[in-house]
Amino acid sequence: MCGIFAYVGSDNKASQKVLEGLKLLEYRGYDSWGIASRIQNSKFKIQNSKFTLEKHVGKIGNAELSSELSANSSQLALGHTRWATHGGVTVENAHPHLDCKKEIAVIHNGIVENFQEIKHELVKKRHVFTSQTDTEVIPHLIEEYLKKEGFASSVKDAFNRLKGLNAIVVAYAPSSEIIAAKTGSPLVMGHATDGFYIASDASGIIKHTKKVIFLKDNEMVILGKNIQLVSLSGGQKITPRYETINWKIEDEEKGAYKHFLIKEIHEQLNVIEYIALNSLADSNKLANLIDKAFGTFMLGCGTASYAALAGTYLFSRIAKKHVNFSIGSEFTYLIDYLTPESLVIPISQSGETIDVVSSIEHAKEKSSKIAAVVNVRGSTIYRQADEKILLYAGPEKAVVGTKSFTAMVAILLLSAFSLAKKQNEGKKLLHQASKNIRDILKENYIKEIKKVVEKIKKKEHIYIIGRGLSYAAALETSLKIKETSYMHAEGFAGGELKHGVIALIEKGTPCIVIAPLDETYDDIISNAAEIAARGGFIIGIGPKNNSVFDAFLPTEDCRDATFIPQVVIAQVLAYNLALSRGISDPDKPRNLAKSVTVK
Ligand code: F6R
Repeated sequence: MCGIFAYVGSDNKASQKVLEGLKLLEYRGYDSWGIASRIQNSKFKIQNSKFTLEKHVGKIGNAELSSELSANSSQLALGHTRWATHGGVTVENAHPHLDCKKEIAVIHNGIVENFQEIKHELVKKRHVFTSQTDTEVIPHLIEEYLKKEGFASSVKDAFNRLKGLNAIVVAYAPSSEIIAAKTGSPLVMGHATDGFYIASDASGIIKHTKKVIFLKDNEMVILGKNIQLVSLSGGQKITPRYETINWKIEDEEKGAYKHFLIKEIHEQLNVIEYIALNSLADSNKLANLIDKAFGTFMLGCGTASYAALAGTYLFSRIAKKHVNFSIGSEFTYLIDYLTPESLVIPISQSGETIDVVSSIEHAKEKSSKIAAVVNVRGSTIYRQADEKILLYAGPEKAVVGTKSFTAMVAILLLSAFSLAKKQNEGKKLLHQASKNIRDILKENYIKEIKKVVEKIKKKEHIYIIGRGLSYAAALETSLKIKETSYMHAEGFAGGELKHGVIALIEKGTPCIVIAPLDETYDDIISNAAEIAARGGFIIGIGPKNNSVFDAFLPTEDCRDATFIPQVVIAQVLAYNLALSRGISDPDKPRNLAKSVTVK
């Protein structure tokens, strides 16, 4: 959550670079944004600040630099897109935050858990606060330390006083260096020919360089003419460990598509084909780990949790292997029986989701093995894991997860087939699913989806039912509809209907019935009939039409992989539902952010 972007180097257009970087990071938070650039000519001092500072409420969108910022030809700037935690969405609460003398500018991701105590202490020392944020204590605390020591040690000492999982970037006007430090939230440093970049993820940096360092927790980096990486605990120097990232610039742009969401829905074709061809070794590795473990837990949050839930059905059906499942935020309450022989499989697109990160920490305390299935190389979860399985889905910029889900379930399906010693069969099903997705994404099929959208767009509620693997698909379908179109959607196991949910059905209530040609077919059709008898409007998704359906969206029968194209239909439906309900930017649903790094 929150996007951080900063630059220091030889180019005078630091503010412009930061603005462009922030635009690429906006999916991390979009309540408000701000940029501070170090003033190198004295002409544009604002309120005696040593920085040109600009803050706004709302999305950064297509914003241009203010005349002050663009006139200040600075070689050092830092900026932030915010997802509010402490303090409402106001200009005052937007970052960067400054100290009393307006010499120190700070951007921050995370929560300073002990900010009240620190603020109390600083107020007693006559520091004046202008926001309600926890962040503002940081520049004031650094200001205190600067009374007795240099810039770098002041940042180190101030940061070490903060409790919680935090990442900060600090600029101090008299210095031509920026300093970044982290304990939890992600930071990536890029080393380019024109200087150094630092950001909360590699987006935005790859345009300038692919040579990066993923900062580890408890590290601080000082960037100016050179780079110095130091330990936050002892202050010792650390040799910089460079890595090369292989994302392409086109991955960062919408291209011919109107939104990242629809672009990424289309990219699923390549993702699934890539996994079928290139992830055989990884899926074998995962299968072997599961085979050897005494007790396996898969866990994730939101969409990733539904991928994990699907995984439990896949391993049971295909490999006859029991795998436990937990949502990330609940795992902490289930760890009592973990042992060093247990295997924990965290599944995450960003690799930063805090509930998953802390679940891993708890599992590590029990010495359990961690095999992470993750999309972002170098992310926190990637680094925490003993074994790493990459998704290779490329950057996912829409807040709503689509291609990451497909990549997750494709890897799990392939691993389940590996464990059953039938990997070729898994590969074949993935090819079949990808072929089917190609058809679903053709114009004439999308037209059919749009007809369904027309029929349901004015409704307030929609229910989705499935059984077995399609239960996981029903939950994912409901999440896509909720967060994209803001229509109230709920997914249920078909068998649960009669235990209460059916009370919600009235004449015309739309209900999606996910009906693959597997052992769930007859029972789910009976459930559909029960809804139809109460006047529900039934939308069937599956390989075979049925007289109980009022509308039908066909898929191929891809056996255990059928739920993948079924979810793609749901994604396209959710996207079009959002547009038809007047939502102009389905890439950035209200109140959400892409990477959930706070509890
Ligand atoms: C929904 C969505 C979220 C994420 C969840 C976990 O479309 O994208 O529910 O799936 O926040 O995120 P990752 O996979 O980054 O751990």
